[in-house]
Amino acid sequence: MEHSFETGYPEHDRDGVIFLQVCGVEEIFSKRAKNFFFDEETQVAVFRVDGALYAVSNICPHQHAPVICEGYVEDLTVTCPLHGWMYSLQTGKALGGGGKLKTYRVFEEGGQVYLEKPRPVEPNWKLW
Ligand code: FES
Repeated sequence: MEHSFETGYPEHDRDGVIFLQVCGVEEIFSKRAKNFFFDEETQVAVFRVDGALYAVSNICPHQHAPVICEGYVEDLTVTCPLHGWMYSLQTGKALGGGGKLKTYRVFEEGGQVYLEKPRPVEPNWKLW
């Protein structure tokens, strides 16, 4: 059985995709992000740029740090505040590097923000 979250957010089925009603639209400011914490490995930063919303993993793959929501936004990119890796908010891809942030579907409707329900992320590292 697939592992899933009990998030506490209202769930809405859109064409077979489960979206979570996570907050009001006024809670996400321009060129800023709001982080949604599901567990240590699964966190989603929702950004607003030029009125549109973008949702990417909050965890920078460089050093596995949950800091993307605090990054600097310019055009449609976010720069990690720790060491400056820059990512596309549209694709999650690192610009000039090999890393990638997972992206999620997100939209607003009726004054509410709806975020694709994330699947739990399994850590890709182990402590030996
Ligand atoms: S942890 Fe993000 S660039 Fe190093």
